[in-house]
Amino acid sequence: MEIRSAAVIGAGVMGSGIAAHIANAGIPVFLLDIVPQDVKDGRGNDRSVVARTAIDRMLKTEPAPFMHKRNARLVTPGNIEDDLEKLAGVDWIVEAVVENPAVKADLYARLDAVRKPGSIVSSNTSTIPLKNLVEGRGDGFARDFMITHFFNPPRYMRLLEVVAGPDTRPGAVEALSRFADTRLGKGVVRCKDRPGFIANRIGTYWIQAAINQAMDLGLTVEEADAVVGRPMGIPKTGVFGLVDLVGLDLMPYVSRSLLNTLPADDPYRAIHREPELFTRMIAEGYTGRKGKGGFYRLNKSGGGRVKEAIDLATGQYRPSEKASLESVGAAKQGLRALVEHPDRGGIYARRVLVDLLAYAASLVPEIADDMTAVDQAMRLGYNWRFGPFELIDQLGADWLAGALRDEGKPVPALLEKAAGKGFYRTEGGRLEFLTVDGSYAEVARPEGVLLLSDIKRGSKPIKRNGSAALWDIGDGVACLEFTGKMNALDGDVMALIQKAIGMIGDGKGEWKALVVHNEGDNFSVGVNLGLALFAVNIALWPQVEQSVQEGQETYKALKYAPFPVVAAPSGMALGGGCEILLHCDAVQAHAETYMGLVEVGVGVIPGWGGCKEMLTRATLNRKRPGGPMPPIAQVFETISLAKVAKSADEARDLMFLRPTDGITMNRDRLLADAKAKALELAENYVPPEPATLRLPGPTARAALRMAVDGFHQQGKATDHDVVVSGALAEVLSGGDTDITAEMDEDRLLELERESFMKLVRSRATVARIEHMLTTGKPLRN
Ligand code: NAI
Repeated sequence: MEIRSAAVIGAGVMGSGIAAHIANAGIPVFLLDIVPQDVKDGRGNDRSVVARTAIDRMLKTEPAPFMHKRNARLVTPGNIEDDLEKLAGVDWIVEAVVENPAVKADLYARLDAVRKPGSIVSSNTSTIPLKNLVEGRGDGFARDFMITHFFNPPRYMRLLEVVAGPDTRPGAVEALSRFADTRLGKGVVRCKDRPGFIANRIGTYWIQAAINQAMDLGLTVEEADAVVGRPMGIPKTGVFGLVDLVGLDLMPYVSRSLLNTLPADDPYRAIHREPELFTRMIAEGYTGRKGKGGFYRLNKSGGGRVKEAIDLATGQYRPSEKASLESVGAAKQGLRALVEHPDRGGIYARRVLVDLLAYAASLVPEIADDMTAVDQAMRLGYNWRFGPFELIDQLGADWLAGALRDEGKPVPALLEKAAGKGFYRTEGGRLEFLTVDGSYAEVARPEGVLLLSDIKRGSKPIKRNGSAALWDIGDGVACLEFTGKMNALDGDVMALIQKAIGMIGDGKGEWKALVVHNEGDNFSVGVNLGLALFAVNIALWPQVEQSVQEGQETYKALKYAPFPVVAAPSGMALGGGCEILLHCDAVQAHAETYMGLVEVGVGVIPGWGGCKEMLTRATLNRKRPGGPMPPIAQVFETISLAKVAKSADEARDLMFLRPTDGITMNRDRLLADAKAKALELAENYVPPEPATLRLPGPTARAALRMAVDGFHQQGKATDHDVVVSGALAEVLSGGDTDITAEMDEDRLLELERESFMKLVRSRATVARIEHMLTTGKPLRN
């Protein structure tokens, strides 16, 4: 069965977000909620106002639930009194109403009366066991019912926990999992019908343990977050920052519902606390970012913006101070160095990790068939870089077992089985995991999933240098990976691209195609600014110009190489990281790709062919006649405002992606999709024809300048914005050309270089670069 239509009941936080994301997959979806009492009483006549308001609100929410505003049209608002019959045609009904078993039961009875046979019904419940949800319903319902537990926000959190009951049809689970994986881009983790499933069961324990130990050891919130954040591969919000983010008021609710359902001997019971300070904070509205502030707040009183943190002992706010703990520095040597460090941070890390990891180990196979599910759930649901069992391997299973024995605590059976080995191992280049019976099995990847990390585990790079590597991903396709800090681009990257071009040759021998891909959080945020600033500061002008030219030539060589080049980006692709994509034959983008030419933020213009490619694209793609000006103005606006597309879909509007470029919803499928595209292009591949353009020259430049002067007068553009936009206008108008002359790409590249060099020599540009390096934000000078 294939899911072609859907409905979500409950248009609250989760239901509306789930509906938006189903729409992101291109699937029409009904969104139903109740008819509010005041409408029934005659105040207001929109009986679907709850769902309609939710859709309107989502169009204004940041980060956006919709990948493109047009997707909102796929969501049809309705209400459960008038519109239930419409669900007779849908393939999947998601229930996301209030967490109240009676309300859900009543709704299921009504749904069962209208839904078509074989349609799937699933609940987004976080706490109610499946067996309770199907109680009293007929067999037919139980066969089609499961739990699909999304994480908030549904578009961005990759985890989907799926729980099937003993009666659920395997075919239904299979169809839904496939849909969630390929169309919604989720990492589907099968969980057992146990309280809190996997991620929240372990996550709640982790939060409680981290809070308790911080309070007992007298750590500040900054210190605690500095230890249980980055050093453990956990987002830098750590624990208190995370609670601020999700809302402190949710904590008692989540923990109480867990306490109601957890086994009597569950270790969480022993550590559960509700500190008086937290109760007071909630009562006074200090619930976190959505409230008046939480453990941290931005104090804007007195006109300033002072970041403050709460003193856990006194409950008073004080100016926030960066933690300074030696142990956090020691963590660079590994997790063992952190937990064995004698300072407060080390002791804290040890206490939190020992208990947390023992808890996780004690829950398998109780909550999941094997521990890889637990690791995946924590990676995708809490954004941990490593799951609990990967963390145990970093510490050593024997170390953990020893620590538990030293403290007189029981060693979980699964941890005993890992003694002397570990939970994961590489065997013949393949990743294997320890099963519950103590043997190893391969970590199987689903069909259509190809991970660069698997290839790297099992092979050596074909070539590598300090900033890039080249891998053999099979079938004659090579993969270029950026490997520098934050995947920054530099001369080494260019050199390796040139080598790759040489190695692949005419594409008719051993190698057929090149894919550009990496598994970093961000594809690339562009040039290595630190290096650039260094060269600029000591006035190495010839070298700066040479590196600009080298980038232009390298990207151009990629474009005209006699073999296909396909890029597969995910995350941010900015500046030079965006320009390389513009030069590829095709891009297969992860849906969550954020492309932009943001060079003006550091006072320069795209200098590696970005202006040229965008201009060529806009001119050749022009749909309506109207002279040369509209495409120029469009590109000018995109680059001078440093527009960044907030999804791959939006990147199409900005022309960063072409209509022919592909989008992959599931990140794990990205490389395989790109490779398939590259192989498809490799058959009868012909490189693109060089383009020539006719540009208007000085008249166009003057028109663009006039527009910028207008913004300057209105205070919307700064002094240096005028200079930078002027240099951009010079390039996009074609310099001193006129409309009768044909211009080739090389002339455009020359103009890019000239404008770039003019800008990079100005003090205001240097100030922008310095500011970006120190603060990470653009300077508006
Ligand atoms: P919410 O309170 O934001 O929204 C619930 C919505 O259900 C409201 O709009 C309400 O009017 C509607 N509703 C109530 N009774 C209804 C009925 N009989 N028919 C139709 N609509 C009805 O709640 P939220 O947070 O969206 O939670 C929904 C479900 O998702 C719950 O089961 C919750 O446990 C679960 N969940 C919540 C997460 C979160 O972070 N908030 C995360 C994962 C799951």
